[in-house]
Order: sequence, then structure tokens, then C-alpha cells
Amino acid sequence: MSTVKLAIVYYSATGTLDTMAQHAAEAGEKAGAEVRVRRVARRTTTGERDATDAQAAHAEAAPETPGAEPDDIVWANAVLFGSPTRYGNIAGQLKTFIDSLGPQWGQGLLADKVYAGFTASQTLHGGQESTLLALYNTMHHFGGIVVAPGYTDPTKFVDGNPYGASHVTGANNDAPLRDTDIAALHHLATRVVTVADRLAS
Ligand SMILES: Cc1cc2nc3c(=O)[nH]c(=O)nc-3n(C[C@H](O)[C@H](O)[C@H](O)COP(=O)(O)O)c2cc1C
Repeated sequence: MSTVKLAIVYYSATGTLDTMAQHAAEAGEKAGAEVRVRRVARRTTTGERDATDAQAAHAEAAPETPGAEPDDIVWANAVLFGSPTRYGNIAGQLKTFIDSLGPQWGQGLLADKVYAGFTASQTLHGGQESTLLALYNTMHHFGGIVVAPGYTDPTKFVDGNPYGASHVTGANNDAPLRDTDIAALHHLATRVVTVADRLAS
């Protein structure tokens, strides 16, 4: 039986990452982990507020997810961070949360955990891989163990992102997740739980 505690900590402005987080949580629980799903404070920027009515409605319909706290990272031994692509980087809102972890970092409480990430962009090749790599810069400073998916499963040869899981939201920013996106999220969550479990034992 897994003793893994998986925290899924993400930001979403228009609902895509909310859905991605739920799929990752489902897979984490199926892999036997205790799972916390936490969204960092929305605090939308002007550009995000200019989203279409449909996007605004999507955001309003997002599940009521508890807000992320530093203790959620300390509690976990596996962490999945999720962020929409922002100019090929992570969203400022997630960065602000990560930047609030200085005291925990200073005490070494963020080290020796398994980390990985998921993202979405509006366009194909819109910066998904650079967003995940930017996220992983910080994981190295944590002393974390980045568990990238690589091509460790046949599904990865279909979705094609060895850095994490990702989705393209399309011209109207509302394209539903494809089966391959969901498979990538399931594989990623299962993999981080499996590796964290091996580390724990
Ligand atoms: C300020 C800003 C910057 C963005 N930068 C990019 C980008 O570099 N490439 C891209 O394809 N999409 C970009 N997008 C689109 C978002 O990545 C997309 O809307 C997001 O992944 C949707 O996730 P959400 O529904 O969870 O908020 C940007 C959106 C905003 C508001």
C-alpha cells in the first residue's frame, strides 16, 4: 500500500488547469496516494480579465478547490505543480506562491521530494516545454528530485512531451482535453507516486 502524499498545486485563470488537476488527482488516488488538490489565489490580471464570456463562465464553473498553503508542499512527498504558459514561463500567480516558500526552503523542508509539472498553452509549440523547464529551475533550488515522464510509456510517443503533461487550448482557448492529454496526466501522476513510493521504502 502506498504511503505517498501527493500535492497538486496549480494556477488557472480560465479553467483548463482546473480540469487537468482533477485528472491528475484521479490518477494519483488510483495509484494509492493521499491527494491534496490546491489552487493558488486567482488574482486575475487585466489580460486574463479580457477573456471571452465563455472563458469567464468556465472559470466561474471551476470546482471549489481549496487555496494552496506552504504546508501543502511540506506535507507532501510528491508534488505536481501546474501552470498555464505565460510567454513561455510559469504564471506570476504560481511564482508568487513559490516565492512565499522561502522560510520552508531555508529549513530544508522542500528537499528530497519528487516534483513534476503540467501546463497548457493556447498555441501548439506555444512555450509548453520552456514553461516546464522554467518550473524545474526552482525545483533544483529546492533540492527536489525532478521526475520527468520522458518516454517511459507508449503514451508518451503519442503526446510527445517528455518534460511533463500539457494541453493546447486552441484559438478560442476552450479546446477540451484530448484522450492523449488525459493519458499523459494519468501517466505523470502515476509515475511520481510510484517513484516517491520507492524512495520512501
Ligand atoms: C499574459 C498571457 C500570456 C500568455 N502566453 C502564452 C504563450 O506564450 N503561448 C501560448 O500559446 N499561450 C499563451 N497564453 C495563453 C494561455 O497559456 C492559456 O490561455 C492557458 O493555458 C489556459 O489555461 P487556464 O484556462 O487554466 O487559465 C497566454 C495567456 C496570457 C493571459
